[in-house]
Amino acid sequence: MNPFWSTLVQRLTPYVPGEQPKLADLVKLNTNENPYPPSPLALAAMQAELGSDGANLRLYPDPNADRLKEAIVAHFAAASLMPAQIFVGNGSDEVLAHVFMALLKHEKPILMPDISYSFYPVYCELYGIEHVSIPLGEHFEIRVDDYARENGGIVIANPNAPTGHLLPLAEVERLVAAHPQSVVVVDEAYVDFGGDSAIALVNRYANLLVVRTLSKSHALAGLRVGYAIGHSGLIEALDRVKNSFNSYPLDRLAIAGATAAMADSVYLEETRQAIMRSRATLVAKLESLGFDVLPSAANFIFASHPQHDAAKLAAELRQRKVIVRHFKLPRIDQHLRISIGADAQCQALVDALKEIIA
Ligand SMILES: Cc1ncc(COP(=O)(O)O)c(C=O)c1O
Repeated sequence: MNPFWSTLVQRLTPYVPGEQPKLADLVKLNTNENPYPPSPLALAAMQAELGSDGANLRLYPDPNADRLKEAIVAHFAAASLMPAQIFVGNGSDEVLAHVFMALLKHEKPILMPDISYSFYPVYCELYGIEHVSIPLGEHFEIRVDDYARENGGIVIANPNAPTGHLLPLAEVERLVAAHPQSVVVVDEAYVDFGGDSAIALVNRYANLLVVRTLSKSHALAGLRVGYAIGHSGLIEALDRVKNSFNSYPLDRLAIAGATAAMADSVYLEETRQAIMRSRATLVAKLESLGFDVLPSAANFIFASHPQHDAAKLAAELRQRKVIVRHFKLPRIDQHLRISIGADAQCQALVDALKEIIA
């Protein structure tokens, strides 16, 4: 440990992102990226922003990314949003970081499921926020009644990660309505793959904040764009933190690409439907190999095999150049989280598993 480290940094256990291997010919099903390229309109918009000489890059981007906020408002037209209800940031990880600092750091501990996105406890540690883990039910479901206790806020992922389990919108609303004194954060990174968004509720609940990303359904993980939607009072808190940290979280290319991607609903629809079809096919094939697969509303599945150790399966898949995610954590160490790839990638996974468990 370096003597110059602050006591805070000495204490931290940082989040470990899924591996981004440098090898080219891998079947990469470990970080829930989209197997399809982003919208061609997003690429064209970024090329236009760059121009022939890149002159635009001399200039700072719009610190408020107003164009992108307008495109988000238009994308969710049915929810009747105003730009002041939207916050944008450098990936939803950054948005979430600001949410924890701006809206979840209070006297009372915050509540989150015991199995969820493993970055949440890391933010708690960074900001000195106490948290209580509420166990998921027997089938890895969030039980809203278990959250009926004093709290300084609640954060859930819906669909949950890494289980893929979806809490029905009516249950999300019950959770939000039951805690009018706390901010309830619903992280919808995966909701385009099978859920109903809580964005439909934000105009009715001043304590609801929905966090989204363009990394998964819009195939732009490399561009780093996330956003939050809620009451303008909540958004103002996020802006205050952002403007005390980095006024320009989105660069010019990110604003241009994300704005065009949000406007291209046709492409989103085609690709998310293709991924949901591939998911159904993959689930059927894995079940025929004896796997138990949890119902998933995400672009990944969570699977276990009664006769095969999950860590060993992951290691053997790796030897065959197929990478999936295994978590060495209580209750889920016999599961594999497998991202839905293109059909050929899913088939490569199935072929490798057939060899391993034959
Ligand atoms: C539940 C959940 N939330 C947020 C994120 C962060 O996404 P990004 O920072 O790419 O927007 C992830 C990434 O895997 C996730 O699984």
